[in-house]
Parts: sequence; structure tokens; C-alpha cells
Amino acid sequence: MTRTETLLPDAPGLARAVQILRTGGLVAFPTETVYGLGGDARNSRAVAGIYEAKGRPRFNPLIVHVADLAMAETFAVFDSRARALAAAFWPGPLTLVLTLRPDTGLSPLVRAELDTVAIRVPAHPVAQALIRAYCGPLAAPSANPSGRVSPTRAEHVAQGLSGRIAAILDGGPCAVGVESTILGLAGEAKLLRPGGVAMEEIEARIGPVALHQPGEALTAPGQLASHYAPAAALSLNCGPEPDAVHLGFGPGAEGIARVTLNLSPAGSLTEAAANLFHMLREADRLAGPKGRITAAPIPDHGIGRAINDRLARAAAPRPSDGSA
Ligand code: TXA
Ligand code: MG
Repeated sequence: MTRTETLLPDAPGLARAVQILRTGGLVAFPTETVYGLGGDARNSRAVAGIYEAKGRPRFNPLIVHVADLAMAETFAVFDSRARALAAAFWPGPLTLVLTLRPDTGLSPLVRAELDTVAIRVPAHPVAQALIRAYCGPLAAPSANPSGRVSPTRAEHVAQGLSGRIAAILDGGPCAVGVESTILGLAGEAKLLRPGGVAMEEIEARIGPVALHQPGEALTAPGQLASHYAPAAALSLNCGPEPDAVHLGFGPGAEGIARVTLNLSPAGSLTEAAANLFHMLREADRLAGPKGRITAAPIPDHGIGRAINDRLARAAAPRPSDGSA
């Protein structure tokens, strides 16, 4: 058991974080999407520590976080599509899966031995400051135990990983609230995970993007059906019910349910994404492990597609239900 330090994102806090990373330790840090669990992507001991702290299967590769396109190009091959998207959306919530360059020095554990690497340039000023102060690439999955709800606040990280990691840099709540969009670009353009950048905006830059088909071999190995799982049972596309905690969306959701948490009273998908994981945790706490959560239908366009993806995984049968 390690004592987990909470660090402020000021000069001494960043210096301490860098010191921990240099010795192969793990530091959770804020990004604009969710908190990441960072370790040096070139240090196999650090990367192995990430899998262990999360209880994550080793076949599920990690995203490498870099400060800018120049640093990204030292690890992966960029074609004209990748360049166009990097110019449009970096820094920001877009991860590109690209062909790995030879002799990058990245730990093979980061990419789970695949010949591709997932790279992203986070926009959050604390993430930027940390990567620049460290002068190196950080492997960082979401900072939650594998299969559970992603953290959008430092206290969520502490609830899941306290005692298992060296430190948490507290940068307040994350603005986007759902993870980055993952786009495969090693061959034909393929959406591997909907996220903070809308698919419509990507297609406007590079043309049609293929969708991952259900039943197709998993190309983003992390996209297992059950994920983001609350302890309570979750039902989707529902109205409020008297015995359930309701995740509402838009005006007029209050009144009938035991408790209603409204993702966005104004009906804004951006606001709903920012509130999603915090309210899902809160609903889970209020419902209790034997309770029920109902979720209102969410429009399936723009960032709404990412919200629906996360809700569907949160509602999917769990391995402990006997399905795996
Ligand atoms: O917003 C985000 O992307 C956050 C923040 C911390 O940056 N990170 C995040 O990481 O969501 P994680 O590990 O929870 O999800 C990474 C996903 C996994 O589904 C993994 O399978 C996929 O990226 N992935 C990583 N490398 C890949 C590769 N080479 N090919 C295909 N999928 C890959
Ligand atoms: Mg995750």
C-alpha cells in the first residue's frame, strides 16, 4: 500500500510529479476529457505498474500522451489525413491510432505488442504543463479501476485508486467529461470509440469514416461490452419511475422519480457529457447496489453519440452476471 499524495497543479506540485515519474512512479493528472493515470511510456516497469494499479488486462493497449505534433511524429507515421486532423483538433479530445515508427523507445507493453500506437495531445493546461516539464511521453489510461466509471474529478480518482498510485494532481473537474474519440488511421479511417470530437467534424475534414461493426474483431481491444459499470442496475431510454434514480435530459424531467439528476436541464449535449460520469457515480450512490437507475433517451448525434456509447456499456451485462 502506497500513501497517495494529492498535489496542486502549481510549480512545486508539478516538480514533485516529475520526480515521481522519473523513478517509474504513477501520477494521475487532469485532461480535458477525464483524469489519466500517467507513467513514463518508455519505462516498462512504469507501464506494467499502470496495468497492475487498474487491474487492466495486458492485451488492452494504452494511449501515449505527448505535448504536440512534433513529439507525436517521433513515435508514429503521419499521412495527409492524420496531419489534417492533428491541425484541426490537437490539442484536444482526439486520439489517432497510427503505424508505429521503428526504434521509438516506447515500451512494447504500451501498445500490447500491436504494430500501431494510439497517440493524443491533450488540451488541458495541467496535462500540457506536466508533459512539457517531464519532457517525455506519458502512457495514460483513464484513472479508474478497469471496467468502472471513468473519473472526471480528483476525488473520483482517489475513490478508485488511493493507496495504489503515488500521486494525484488535482486540476478540478474535467470540461469535456467523456474520453477522446479514437480514430484508426493505420488503414482505412475507422471510428474505434466515439468521444469528445464529433464524428461529423472528422468526416468534414477527411471524408467518410467506417464504423466498428458489432461482431467484428475488436480493433480497440478496450471496447469490451461491459464497461463504466455502476453497482446498481441501469435501464436506458426510460422515463422516470417512482422506485428508481433517474438520469434526466432536458426540461421537465423532475417530479416522478425517487430522485432525478438532470444531465442538462437546458438540453445541451455538451453539458450532459461534462456531467455524465459524475452523475452516474452519484446516481449509483443514491440507488445503492440493489437499486435501479433509469436514463432518459439522449439524441444520438455529435457528442451525444459518445454519451450513448458510455451509457450502453454501463448498462451491458457484467462478467460477474455470468456472461464471461
Ligand atoms: O480521453 C482519453 O482518451 C483518456 C484520457 C486520459 O486521455 N484516456 C483513455 O484511455 O480513455 P483508456 O485506456 O481508458 O482507453 C484507451 C482506448 C482503449 O479502448 C484501447 O483499447 C484503445 O484506446 N487503444 C489503445 N491503443 C490502441 C491501438 N494501438 N489500437 C487500437 N486501440 C487502441
Ligand atoms: Mg478507460
